[in-house]
Amino acid sequence: MSSQVDEQTRLKQEAAEKALELVEPGMTVGLGSGSTATLWIKLLGEKVRDQGLKIRAIASSDDSEKLGRSYGIPFTSFEETKSLDLTVDGADEVAPGLALIKGGGGKLLREKIVASASRKFVVVADGSKQVERLGKFPLPVEVIRMAEPLVNEALRELGFTPKVRTNKDGSEYITDEGNLILDCSGLLLDNPQAMAATLDSIVGVVEHGLFLGMASKALIAEAGGVVERTK
Ligand code: 5RP
Repeated sequence: MSSQVDEQTRLKQEAAEKALELVEPGMTVGLGSGSTATLWIKLLGEKVRDQGLKIRAIASSDDSEKLGRSYGIPFTSFEETKSLDLTVDGADEVAPGLALIKGGGGKLLREKIVASASRKFVVVADGSKQVERLGKFPLPVEVIRMAEPLVNEALRELGFTPKVRTNKDGSEYITDEGNLILDCSGLLLDNPQAMAATLDSIVGVVEHGLFLGMASKALIAEAGGVVERTK
């Protein structure tokens, strides 16, 4: 591991530790996805396993649920509980107003469902995720396979350069819900709200990685410590 990667992991860990302070006994908790959320799930899992912390969780991905279960975190569902007290998740970009791009790990659909059902949605990230304008990180758009060529064209017309996400072996990346992801680069977003509305109106788009007006707080770990950002 290079020392830069090492340092980034250390910062992610610090943000995750800070987020653990927000968990109280009896809470229903949303588990995010990605490397920072994974560090947080491990810390939370240790508290459940070693200190008997009583919580119930809903995960935003199969991977996060599997990890949570490995620590004995009990899971619930939206049939049982319609809202969550707290969700902690990572982000690919954090812009002013806590506007986010998420979905780098491909879990944006369930992540958005879990975040939208949460009274508090807290982002954990290292300082490298902060941006002035969203869009340097390619915006993930989850699409129904059949509609991919049509959605691809619509996204090109908007100015994006979409690319079907692939796995390391070159095979198509398939989401937990069985869809494809188009990673859309080439456009810095001056008006994310308008873009979100446009993307929502394209038939065949299942969900996109713009998370706007959803996060209540971001815990951003920088060399000098964890900075708490609110809207
Ligand atoms: C997964 C996500 C992740 O939260 C996002 O990609 C950040 O990941 P990491 O914490 O590994 O940097 O949205 O779909």
